[in-house]
Amino acid sequence: MNRTSVTEVARLWTVVDEATSPGLIASCWLLVDGKKNGANAWAVPSKEIATEITESTEDRPRQRAVSTNNQQPTTNNVILLLGHTGYVGSAFARLLERGGHAYRGVSRRDVDYTDRAALTRLIAETRPTFLINAAGYIGKPNVDACELHKAECLAGNAVLPGMIREVCEAAGLPWGHVSSGCIYTGRRADGGGFTETDPPNFSFRTDNCSFYSGCKALGEECLQGSESTYLWRLRIPFNHEDSPRNYLSKLLRYQRLLDAENSISHLEEFVAACFECWQRRVPYGIYNVTNTGSVTTKQVTELIKKHLEPAKQFEFFESEATFMQTAAKTPRSNCVMDNSKLLATGINMSPVEDAIAASLKNWKKEAVG
Ligand SMILES: NC(=O)c1ccc[n+]([C@@H]2O[C@H](COP(=O)([O-])OP(=O)(O)OC[C@H]3O[C@@H](n4cnc5c(N)ncnc54)[C@H](OP(=O)(O)O)[C@@H]3O)[C@@H](O)[C@H]2O)c1
Repeated sequence: MNRTSVTEVARLWTVVDEATSPGLIASCWLLVDGKKNGANAWAVPSKEIATEITESTEDRPRQRAVSTNNQQPTTNNVILLLGHTGYVGSAFARLLERGGHAYRGVSRRDVDYTDRAALTRLIAETRPTFLINAAGYIGKPNVDACELHKAECLAGNAVLPGMIREVCEAAGLPWGHVSSGCIYTGRRADGGGFTETDPPNFSFRTDNCSFYSGCKALGEECLQGSESTYLWRLRIPFNHEDSPRNYLSKLLRYQRLLDAENSISHLEEFVAACFECWQRRVPYGIYNVTNTGSVTTKQVTELIKKHLEPAKQFEFFESEATFMQTAAKTPRSNCVMDNSKLLATGINMSPVEDAIAASLKNWKKEAVG
């Protein structure tokens, strides 16, 4: 896999201007192109960049950190959870809460952990045993929004993990990062699912991706060679709770659907498997944390029809080209992942059809009003 340093990504971020975002694309291109040609397009001393980033946030008032689990965590057996307010972060918080693990959920509202100095202080004060980064920028209501908020997307998905890496390495703190399988499209040339050693084929380097996927791939590059780090790849989360963030709910709510094949992740199985990586001290590195197998959108809607008997008739776009012309601003990643590296550690992920069926059997419809 290619390696991009946090300095290079941070440099990109400092030149981002939302108003001139086409310039950012060009910069991303320059970055990867420079790499391809063996040159380093953004080589600047790390300290310079660290200062630039720190200065931009240093004058914000320092705020108090809060613990979300009513008990005072001990100073040496606590897990720091960044982004605990988010969809994925709150699933980690519920898991840790249920398991009685001391943790400290951190939101930017309380401590701006995107600021290097603030994160360094937080770690020094908390002395955690492990850190989970569930923070990142995700377009809402969908990935198209990232095309309009490029600076935030690059900051949240590439600069932030790179900076966390540097701070955790300096503190000797092991940590795990929620990444994404959206850096791939399709299947491997041999027909199999993508493994952790396959280079991304939906990234700025391959020039076919959304801005979001490009940033996620850059984020992974920033963590390449990182010691004591887990990279957990999540794909299209779902569970039994009807919500605008749940893939199954999205299928129920969207007017027309794109039929595509994907590996997807049951949210609670995902967070449990990630945390188990740490609890069982499996080797650090990248893990595809998806349910076993893959499903097409049509297979999922058949399961929805069987279990929920919705009044709605599911309609599909004729083709991906029609979808792109009429409903999307940026290409979508649809891909099949191979989770056998994770399964080989003894950590289980259920077959994808079983996980979907179980979610639909326990479906909790969102309260209206
Ligand atoms: N949901 C998915 O479909 C999906 C799929 C694959 C991978 N992922 C990855 O999983 C991670 C979490 O996603 P999520 O779905 O839980 O997102 P989310 O609901 O938007 O939560 C992300 C949290 O990150 C924090 N954050 C830090 N920097 C941010 C920034 N620049 N912009 C926005 N939020 C920022 C925010 O918490 P505070 O402001 O409270 O600190 C926010 O609540 C992301 O890295 C995402 O790329 C998500």
